[in-house]
Amino acid sequence: MKILLTETEIAERVAQLGREITEAYRGRELTVITVMNGAVVFAADLLRKIDLPLQLDSFAASSYENDRSSGKITIRSALKLPVRGRHVLLVDDILDTGLSMKCAMEYFRSLDAASVRTCVLMDKMRKDKVCAHADWVGFRIPDRYVVGYGLDSGEYYRNLPYVGILTDELDGQEKA
Ligand code: IMP
Ligand code: MG
Repeated sequence: MKILLTETEIAERVAQLGREITEAYRGRELTVITVMNGAVVFAADLLRKIDLPLQLDSFAASSYENDRSSGKITIRSALKLPVRGRHVLLVDDILDTGLSMKCAMEYFRSLDAASVRTCVLMDKMRKDKVCAHADWVGFRIPDRYVVGYGLDSGEYYRNLPYVGILTDELDGQEKA
């Protein structure tokens, strides 16, 4: 495993994002919506750094099959709270192709949220994005498959406190 983001780096950046989000929504109420399962660790830490009245909801979506983007989004469980008229902050782990974020944004806009903004822990630098923008980005990272801090490979590694690249994913030079 090659460590890409340490526990300390993540904690510092998450605290900073929390402060920025608190300032951006000052005087308003927020509905934070997390995308299960990958964003659950990030969202748990971020929430506690947002100093505003807020509600929390989640939905499950997946675009990955066997560590590859399948190109289609499957929504597997729906929201429990009404979002009409609410300021929605979508929290996801990583912007890869951006397909999940694009679909989620369209879905919440269709539910008449007052506003929909997005926060991701990581944004992968790839050129073929369908949605290139998140309002808050923790880290811009190279286009590699990463695990840890909520992100999985075959459902494992979500519990790592840091983000890393599995050495199988690295070429010979980087592995050394
Ligand atoms: P997108 O729709 O291609 O942007 O994919 C987004 C979802 O795929 C993310 O929310 C993650 O759950 C998953 N994903 C994308 N890249 C990675 C990765 O490098 N490691 C683990 N999961 C990933
Ligand atoms: Mg995800």
